[in-house]
Amino acid sequence: MVTQRTFSIIKPDATRRNLTGKINAKFEENGLRIVAQKRIRMTKEQAEQFYAVHKERPFYGDLVKFMTSGPVVVQVLEGEDAVAANRKIMGATNPANADAGTIRKEFAESIEANSVHGSDSPENAKMEISLFFKDSEIVG
Ligand code: CMP
Repeated sequence: MVTQRTFSIIKPDATRRNLTGKINAKFEENGLRIVAQKRIRMTKEQAEQFYAVHKERPFYGDLVKFMTSGPVVVQVLEGEDAVAANRKIMGATNPANADAGTIRKEFAESIEANSVHGSDSPENAKMEISLFFKDSEIVG
């Protein structure tokens, strides 16, 4: 087990419903520490860059529109095996397939408006964190 960092986004469907605190409680109750956090409005360019890996997918255009439709909260979470731990706390991408007690099961509206994003590997976590945070903004 290693202490690790992962990147998280609380998405516009969740900020719209004022769920930031409830979602943060899930992270904290499950052993992750929020070591950086800011509420921003993503620009179209930021969303396009962030989701560039999905550029060819049919949902890409809608996804960029959704992610820029309201405020998001970008975060760095730290803890034991944080990348895998956070994916467990979030639940499956499609809330219909998410386990009971997960963020997406409790809060997500749809496969697109699924309340949270979390990095899928330590390498992507590093890259995603660097898109939104300077080292000096992360306080472990
Ligand atoms: P996220 O973990 O942020 O990564 C890609 C996002 O695309 C995903 O969560 C969903 O918000 C969105 N998305 C929309 N439609 C789909 C789909 N059919 N399959 C996977 N992701 C989708």
